[in-house]
This record gives sequence, C-alpha cells and structure tokens, in this order.
Amino acid sequence: MEFKTIIEPFKIHSVAPLQMTTQSQREKYIEDVGYNLFSLHSDNVLIDLLTDSGTGAMSRNQWAAIQHGDESYAGSPSWLMFKDAVQNLFPYKHVIPTHQGRAAEKILFTAIGGKGKIIPSNTHFDTTRANIEYTQAEGVDLVISEGKDPSSLHPFKGNMDLVALEEFINKFGVENIPVVMMTITNNSGGGQPVSLENLRAVSAICKKYGIPFFLDACRFAENAWFIREREAGQQERDVADIVREIASLADGMTMSAKKDPMGNIGGWLALNDDDLASICRNLLILTEGFPTYGGLAGRDLEALAVGLTEVISHDYLKYRITSTAYLGNALLKKGIPIVQPTGGHAIYIDAKALLPHIPPLHYPGQALAVELYKVGGIRGCEIGTVMFGRKPDGSEVASAMELVRLAIPRRTYTQSHIDYVIEVCAEVAAHSQDLRGYRIMKEPPALRHFTSEFAPL
Ligand code: F0G
Repeated sequence: MEFKTIIEPFKIHSVAPLQMTTQSQREKYIEDVGYNLFSLHSDNVLIDLLTDSGTGAMSRNQWAAIQHGDESYAGSPSWLMFKDAVQNLFPYKHVIPTHQGRAAEKILFTAIGGKGKIIPSNTHFDTTRANIEYTQAEGVDLVISEGKDPSSLHPFKGNMDLVALEEFINKFGVENIPVVMMTITNNSGGGQPVSLENLRAVSAICKKYGIPFFLDACRFAENAWFIREREAGQQERDVADIVREIASLADGMTMSAKKDPMGNIGGWLALNDDDLASICRNLLILTEGFPTYGGLAGRDLEALAVGLTEVISHDYLKYRITSTAYLGNALLKKGIPIVQPTGGHAIYIDAKALLPHIPPLHYPGQALAVELYKVGGIRGCEIGTVMFGRKPDGSEVASAMELVRLAIPRRTYTQSHIDYVIEVCAEVAAHSQDLRGYRIMKEPPALRHFTSEFAPL
C-alpha cells in the first residue's frame, strides 16, 4: 500500500532552539535596522526562509566525515574524496575548489570576462551578474517568455529562448561571447527547472558556433528530479544518470556547494579546457588557496563528498520537491498568488499581484517581506526592484517581477513549521490592502539589497 503522506525521510538527531518574540518586539527590531531583513539578528527570526544556501542540516554521516578531515596543505586525502565525489556526477577534467559559488564566478569571469564581452544565460543569479559586470563585461538574460510570467504553468520555465540565443550570437559575434551560461534550477526566475531537451539544444547551438557552455549548477539534483518527473521518457531514469547527462552537455560549471551538495560552506569551478584551468588555478592561488583545498578546510571537503551522495537519493528528492509544493499549494488555496508551478527550493509570492496598489518603485516585495517578519517572525527575501532595479548607468528601472522568496533550508524545518508559515501568510494577505511601500534612505553602489536602509512611506 502506498500512503499519501510524504514524510521527512530522516529523524531529528540534534536540535537548535528557536527563540519566540512578540510582534511589538519585532516591529522595533526591524525599524532599528532600517527595514532591511539582512540586518536582523537571526536569533530574532523565528522561521528563517531568507535562503536555502548553507542553512541546511547536515546528516550524521556528514558530521562523522568531518572527523575524517585531513588538513594537509597539499594533496590531502579529503581533497581526493571531494574530487572523486564531484567527478562521479560531473566528470570534468579539472576541479577547482572554492569557498563558495561566487568565488568560482569571480575566478571564471576574471579569466574570460572584460570590456566588450557579453555573456548570455537563461537568468544570471545576482552574484553571477555582479561578477560579470565587475570585469566590465555585460550579462544578458534570455529565458523563455513563460519564465517571466508568474502564472504560466509551463513545466520548464527555466528554459533558454533558443531563437533569441541564436539571434544574440549572430548579433554580437562569437568572438565577443566567451561563454553561454545556464542556471539550473533558475533561481532568480522562480527556482524553475530547465528541461533536458533545452539543455541539449543549447549545447548543440554552442557546439555549432564553438562557444563554451557552462552550467551554474547549484540546484542540479532538484533540476534533475523535475526532469525525471516532468519530461517525456525520463521517468525510469536514476537521477544520478540524468545529472551525468546534463554534465556531459556542458564544458564546465560553477557551483555553490551550499545548496544541493548539502554543505554549510563550499563551492567549485570545474572544466575541461586545460589552458583555462591553468589560468583559473593561478587566480585561485591568489585569493582562495592551494588547488587541493581552495578556500576550504579538509573537513569541509569531506562533508561535501558525503552530501553529494545524499542529495541524489530519490527518497530525499521526492520529499524535498513535495514539501516545497505543499507550501505553495496551501498558499494558492488561500488565494495568495505565487509563481507557478512551484519550484524546487523556494516559494515565490507574487507581490505585484498581491499588492497592486504599491508601485514598483515603492518596492512591493520589500513591503511584503517586512510585514511577514513583523506579523510572524518569518524572514523571506525580496527578489524584485530592490534587488535588480539599479542599473550600472545609475538609473532605476522596475524589475519584470516583484517577488518575495520563501527559501526552504534543506532538512531543517518540519511540516508544523511550514503550517505556521502558511497561517502567517494568510493573515498578512487578509490585510494586504493596508500595506504601504518604502523608499530607500541609504544605498551602496552595488548589490544594494544586502545593505540598503529603508523608510516606510
Ligand atoms: N548561483 C546561484 C543560482 C545561486 O543561487 C547562488 C547563491 C550563487 C550562484 C552564488 O553562490 O552564495 O555560494 O556564493 N544563492 C544564494 C541564494 C545566496 O540565497 O539564492 P554563493
């Protein structure tokens, strides 16, 4: 007999306390930090859905592996465990460990970016775009139009627009495009997956024009699970096998091991090109460390090697994707608009639809995120005009979508935590017409969402 309830495929082994606060305390805490959720003391957050990055629970086997960590400066056995685990899924010739994903991006784009270069993706994540722009190159998003429509039910809304990609290549010229990137799953576009068919087609276009193809593969296992669930002919395949096929379509990857590799820290850059790898290793030594540990301790490398074997478990992925959908479906039932279909690691509330009375330049996503914190101690993250609105030329342009992301840390919260989140969201939605926008009082020159200060209008 198969039961309907999909349970957490783990039991709790070690616990961390949650601190209860009152709404009036939270109103003061958030005012004190200029209404920026990144500036809160996390003890004053009850359910922390700011990110799924590095915030998950490690397994007992990962903690045990930490005890095996060997801290030799060069050639540690922990490095070999890590490298083998990465190459088991992503058999690229060179693996370059970094302390997190953006360090891999910084190295890659320092090597291949620069003025006059232009780099397409389905949607660049914000650190990816910032690292591209820091070299004075340009990042361009070419996701399919369904990927920009929160209510479209397309099963693979992270797909690249293939016609736009070929037009782009012909317009800007192969010599100006050092790489084509694909983010799997497409985080900034709602955690939406990319189909195998689309990855094969992008790979074929890149081969046709002789342009390297790189994956930003942070949530590769979740993406592969969606392929297994949603794509014709994939239902019988092992997720690991799908992951290896995805890897085989590209020439390299950047990785934040704080996501699907189940780590609290870590990342890597992997690639086949010997010359580029040599340039990247030299850059690695400048800022991250020797090539057999990068920015990581031996124990971190061990924990990631184990995490990479756990994340491809079908029981885990079924639970992961079903429990994310559980939150999304409950919000929809309460009439709260979200990006559909539900993605892998997060639910994205459509603040533009929920708060039509707040114009984009008054930051409806920020208004909603602050209210969820005040009312229920839930910390989400604005993904809208605050995050993307400031352009390199100094102008401010409304983002295509105004979202609040509720990212779900891996193996961390139980269903009752999520039931509480649903109740709080319903309460906020019930008085959404009373919410007001914000203006920015203080803003840094780049990545403003992390440190800007706001005031209510
Ligand atoms: N690429 C994607 C798609 C990401 O989601 C992230 C991080 C990175 C690259 C950078 O990795 O943080 O290890 O340097 N995303 C986190 C998030 C921060 O909350 O979505 P990092």
